[in-house]
Amino acid sequence: MNWFNFTYLIGIFFCFGCVLFWIRKNRKFQSALSVAAAYDQWTNDQLLEKLWGEHVHLGFYEGGCRRKDFRTAKVDFVHELVKWSGLDRMSRGSRILDVGCGIGGSARILAKEYGFDVIGITISQKQANRAAQLTPVGVNCRFEVMDALDIRFDKGSFDGVWSVEAGPHMLDKQKYADEMLRVLRPGGILAVADWNKRNTKKAKLTTFERIIMRQLLDQWSHPDFSSIDGFCENLLSSKFYGGGIYFDDWTSQTLPSWHESILEGFRRPNDVLSLGPNAIIKGLREVPTILLMRWAFVHGLMRFGVFRARG
Ligand SMILES: C[S@@+](CC[C@H](N)C(=O)[O-])C[C@H]1O[C@@H](n2cnc3c(N)ncnc32)[C@H](O)[C@@H]1O
Repeated sequence: MNWFNFTYLIGIFFCFGCVLFWIRKNRKFQSALSVAAAYDQWTNDQLLEKLWGEHVHLGFYEGGCRRKDFRTAKVDFVHELVKWSGLDRMSRGSRILDVGCGIGGSARILAKEYGFDVIGITISQKQANRAAQLTPVGVNCRFEVMDALDIRFDKGSFDGVWSVEAGPHMLDKQKYADEMLRVLRPGGILAVADWNKRNTKKAKLTTFERIIMRQLLDQWSHPDFSSIDGFCENLLSSKFYGGGIYFDDWTSQTLPSWHESILEGFRRPNDVLSLGPNAIIKGLREVPTILLMRWAFVHGLMRFGVFRARG
């Protein structure tokens, strides 16, 4: 480890110490209810939305170059995943399920720009309410509170299933894959993008990596991350899997997002300040985790996986 990395990590741990000294309670995963509570709170305090807009996911930067606005990069991410997964070849009016839809950023693009008929599901009531508020009349999407591990739709109800950065919150990754493939019609398209850990079956985590991993899990209500290989195995071993599995690694294309997500706070200081001192403290609390996450992606502990498969 060189000096720069060492001081970077010391900085992160120092920030962690300061912030955790202020706020003792953390957001360790306990159940889907604890995830719902965390997102209800993030939605209520408006910090995420004011800072990062209506998309709670990373941006896409061609060649990993940070030459565009973070919000534009997030919109580009949606179009890139649509293209990569082949959803762009689906006819207008196709029924799409967005699993873990946040406040509906992707769902609205899929409905408005591709003419799909979209249903978004989230575990958070506040997110579902906010998603509905942000959706103009005439845009063909609606939102429901539903657990991704117990999707209340019949087998084969959708032409496409979309899920971005929701998988890390799922306790049972096999059930997550099974449920998404179950509601997909035969021949329909599944498109998933996720934060994944490196394959720990091939190379075990060192003690140092385990400490970092624990923070990445507990700070943002994650029970565990899949590896890219592990999630492919989940898809392949599902009884609803119909074929055509592909995956790719978009770590370099998404990496600039981590620094960008912090810089947004400096670019839009009034948005944060207008929410009051609590929001500023909450914002500060996220900084160490964001930096640690970036460190993990740079050093191969985490990978950004994209997956597509047929029902
Ligand atoms: C990082 S956010 C991504 C939101 C959205 N996909 C986006 O890209 O803007 C993770 C989302 O997964 C949802 N989620 C987490 N656990 C869930 C579960 N068990 N069932 C349904 N949604 C869940 C959260 O409510 C949240 O909307």
